Amino acid sequence: MQEEQCVELAGQLMAVRARGAVPMAVVRTYGCQQNVSDSEKIRGILAQMGFSFTDDETKADLVIFNTCAVRENAEYRVYGNVGNLKNLKREHPAMLIAVCGCMMEQEHVAEKIRKSYPYVSLVFGTNLIHRLPQMLYRVLSTGKRVFERGAETKEVIEGVPVLRDREIRAWLTVMYGCDNFCSYCIVPHVRGRERSRQAAAVEEEFRQLLAQGYREIVLLGQNVNSYGKNLEQPVSFAELLRRLDAVPGDYRIRFMTSHPKDATYELMDVMAQSKHICHSLHLPFQAGNNRVLREMNRGYTREKYLELVQYAREKMPDITLTSDIIVGFPGETYEEFQDTVSLVRQVGFTALFTFLYSPRTGTRAAAMDDPVPHEEKSRWFQELLAAQEETSEKNSPGILGTVQRVLVEEYNEKRGLLAGKTEGNLNCDFSGDASLIGSFVDVRVTESHNWVLKGEPILTK
Ligand code: SAH
Ligand code: SF4
Ligand code: F3S
Repeated sequence: MQEEQCVELAGQLMAVRARGAVPMAVVRTYGCQQNVSDSEKIRGILAQMGFSFTDDETKADLVIFNTCAVRENAEYRVYGNVGNLKNLKREHPAMLIAVCGCMMEQEHVAEKIRKSYPYVSLVFGTNLIHRLPQMLYRVLSTGKRVFERGAETKEVIEGVPVLRDREIRAWLTVMYGCDNFCSYCIVPHVRGRERSRQAAAVEEEFRQLLAQGYREIVLLGQNVNSYGKNLEQPVSFAELLRRLDAVPGDYRIRFMTSHPKDATYELMDVMAQSKHICHSLHLPFQAGNNRVLREMNRGYTREKYLELVQYAREKMPDITLTSDIIVGFPGETYEEFQDTVSLVRQVGFTALFTFLYSPRTGTRAAAMDDPVPHEEKSRWFQELLAAQEETSEKNSPGILGTVQRVLVEEYNEKRGLLAGKTEGNLNCDFSGDASLIGSFVDVRVTESHNWVLKGEPILTK
């Protein structure tokens, strides 16, 4: 059946089942920005089918959980939340429940849903979002459960409608999948191989977003630094950035995530010379010890990481750095963990995303010996947080009194303040009028608590 036909027919069938005038959907998102962006596509497709949206499951005709598999606790939350719908489904049998995203690309998880959650009607994998109308149509027209997985795809699907959550900041995916196979990580198993979008397609969407009034575009990929390698005419990420930065306008570019293995000096040079790219870099190092990094299959050393940081700071003295860290990788010793602590102290990060290692079925690390008990790892974790807090206290006084260019994103009613982000991606609140949402305002920083800033706007005529 033609795609448009499916959109229409599935929409009609949903409208018949709906309790209200139009079918209502809840889309719940877990995990990273990639999933947030995917959910915007899911909503875009559903809107095309005639759905409206709610946050209240009791009013929904369709509930979709877009799941994350990166750590165990992310998965537990999903099972809990899907489980919570059992009674609601009994009360409203016409309500459809779908589960999609990274968790569903794992065979054992899809099986668990099949067996233990019989009231879930539709399960689909990460690269099948564009087929949502067809899959829903099958569920609705046959009354049977549909299970489809698709991590193996080599396609890049363009032209999927998007219903964006935000008005000032937009996510723009430049590549899908990941080829790095860090030994602890499930992402390459559930997202499939790396596929880059054509630079022209990225640029077109970028221009559209600016025309729609977006002021901050965040380029997304699991490892943006390997963007373009497999295109027929290879384009480096630095080159893509150069092209986008050349588009005129008053806006900002950010990107994530940068893998240190593929981050280049050219990338830093482009950032330093650009008009629009924020001087802020999320550069996850994961562990500070070279043996652990090798076991993680990260492809760089502590020394290489520090060189990159040094170069970035030479070119952009105002750059802010953030990182992801895993504590308690299998076989990591306390001494090795101290190398992580010392790296944190040495670099001085603006923010850290720290995780306790979580074994993922099917990854190489899951089969490694993991002798350190959980309580011990939790103590290390606390030690790392304390070290980070100390460095923040040491680093943040430097920002007091400085003038930061803040992109105003919202008016916080409760606090009666405008809220936005500095170029360095720090939250900054200041008083002002809601009409400033979407503008850049120079703000003098008067307070800083753990990198959350307060300031006063510098009024211009
Ligand atoms: N592509 C990104 C990371 C995506 S996953 C990159 O390479 O930087 C986000 C973060 O989750 C990772 O950086 C890592 O710190 C953490 N993570 C991934 N797998 C994990 C696991 N099995 N246990 C604990 N943390 C993990
Ligand atoms: Fe996972 Fe490594 Fe790929 Fe990041 S680069 S998604 S940590 S395998
Ligand atoms: Fe989670 Fe999938 Fe992102 S596993 S971190 S939602 S790519």
